[in-house]
Amino acid sequence: MTDAVLAAGVPVLGSDDAAWWRQAVVYQVYPRSFADSNGDGLGDIRGVTDKADYLAGLGVDAVWLSPFYPSALADGGYDVDDYRNVDPRLGTLDDFDDMVAALHERGIKVIVDIVPNHSSDRHEMFRAALAAGKGSPERDRYIFRDGLGENGERPPADWASIFGGPAWEPVGDGQWYFHHFATEQPDFNWDNPDVHAEFLHTLRFWSDRGVDGFRIDVAHGLSKDLPAVLPSQAELDAMDTTDGRHPLWDRDAVHEIYREWRRVFDEYDPPRIAVAEAWVATPERRAKYATPDGLGQAFNFDLLEADFDAAQFRHIVTDNLAQSAATGSSSTWVLSNHDVVRHATRYGLPPRRGSLAKQGSAWILAGAPADQIDLARGSRQALAASLFLLGLPGSAYLYQGEELGLHEVGDIKAEDRQDPAFFRGADPERDGLGRDGCRVPLPWTGTGSSFGFGAAGAHIPQPDWFAGYAVDVEDADPASSLNTYRRALALRHELQTGESLEWRETGRDDVLRFVRPNGWQVVTNFGTEPFALAEGEAPVLGELVDGAVPAETTVWLRG
Ligand code: NOJ
Repeated sequence: MTDAVLAAGVPVLGSDDAAWWRQAVVYQVYPRSFADSNGDGLGDIRGVTDKADYLAGLGVDAVWLSPFYPSALADGGYDVDDYRNVDPRLGTLDDFDDMVAALHERGIKVIVDIVPNHSSDRHEMFRAALAAGKGSPERDRYIFRDGLGENGERPPADWASIFGGPAWEPVGDGQWYFHHFATEQPDFNWDNPDVHAEFLHTLRFWSDRGVDGFRIDVAHGLSKDLPAVLPSQAELDAMDTTDGRHPLWDRDAVHEIYREWRRVFDEYDPPRIAVAEAWVATPERRAKYATPDGLGQAFNFDLLEADFDAAQFRHIVTDNLAQSAATGSSSTWVLSNHDVVRHATRYGLPPRRGSLAKQGSAWILAGAPADQIDLARGSRQALAASLFLLGLPGSAYLYQGEELGLHEVGDIKAEDRQDPAFFRGADPERDGLGRDGCRVPLPWTGTGSSFGFGAAGAHIPQPDWFAGYAVDVEDADPASSLNTYRRALALRHELQTGESLEWRETGRDDVLRFVRPNGWQVVTNFGTEPFALAEGEAPVLGELVDGAVPAETTVWLRG
């Protein structure tokens, strides 16, 4: 331990400390849209290395890279051909090693994305399964079933894939394979020991290369228990997802897999860390992924799904801190990622409809004509929410571009879109335009080819208004979103303390104020009226106007 143990009994972040992850700021890089070093229109690994100083200057503790593995990009790289290599369009393993070295030199940890629920249909194990035929050990590594009807011409069940369309695909010999996501993403059979071996090998491969941790994709989906007679989609939908016995989701048995992985993580010093992507029914179910003998941490998407609303934020924070204290994990906080509408735009949307309002997913943009989005309100609320989040105990997961206050791109032409959810026509009410709008390559310069992303065009076209959000433009403006994030991250390091907070009453339903163990205070005004601070209170982050916190603004005070 390099740092003191504070009041709450939890160590403060220290760079080489085994507990570094507990209060880290983790910055998500979506590699194909981050920076393009070789001018082929696709972001790459050297692009990340070239921006190592930018990341260090921003003040992040770790970088999480979405998949950079060889892939046909049927699902933005989450269709992996080979878990232990780099997509040749993105570089080589040597480039990867250079990137890790550059980030480590600057004290930045590296987290890679592991996609264990499914491979791509081009993975050698899936090719072998197709070639080996029915009943073979190779087919047993995936989920194959005989079709119904005389020659197996009908699917084994009427299940729908998450991206829309059927979830069973015929292979021409009467058998069908199961895919939760795109057709090109066959699900593994985690009852098969070869699948376990493949992923243990992969975890060691990247750990040996110096990777510090793993983000686990669809962590709640690996374990499955399919009866001989498959239920219908309607029957599946009616089943309980909270008792650990659903045939497809969040089964208690999945934790056996993570206990096995934990033993691998603990072979390393410091132990490798992991964070689960598990969209499960309750915070209690989520906590099961975050135990010390399991993955250790799990994404908490509650703030991402909430409105910009003081009561919702307070309830979510209190609830999640209690959950993480109970498991010994630390909370995670997320407002944006590569799967949802950027929060600056979400908060600017017109009032949302019914229960679907909770969804951070892209459908909401489809229901909101551009002229009904209040971009200025969205930008204000997004910064206030981000600064609230950065003051919380636990880990903050940021998504590339949010530091620029970047908005979602809503008007990408159909022919320029890539997301399978858009093309497969997933429920339009929920999924609308798909997820490409938050995956448009970053603007680094206000002018020039693809706004400094690379010498060629960007693989998803950037709109003209990206110029105003470019890194060099914001760099020059002390009041920009980028410079505010930089100040916040630097101060967060300086002020970081034990993993707890106390709420302070503010006398207003729309203003939250909390204090951390060392007196660091965060005040967020969610309302439209200014909130006066006491005489003499002077923020270290954020500006008062006439002694008051302006509408939709967060300030920090030192203890
Ligand atoms: C979750 C990932 O975040 C998403 O981008 C992907 O489409 C699905 N998992 C399937 O891998």
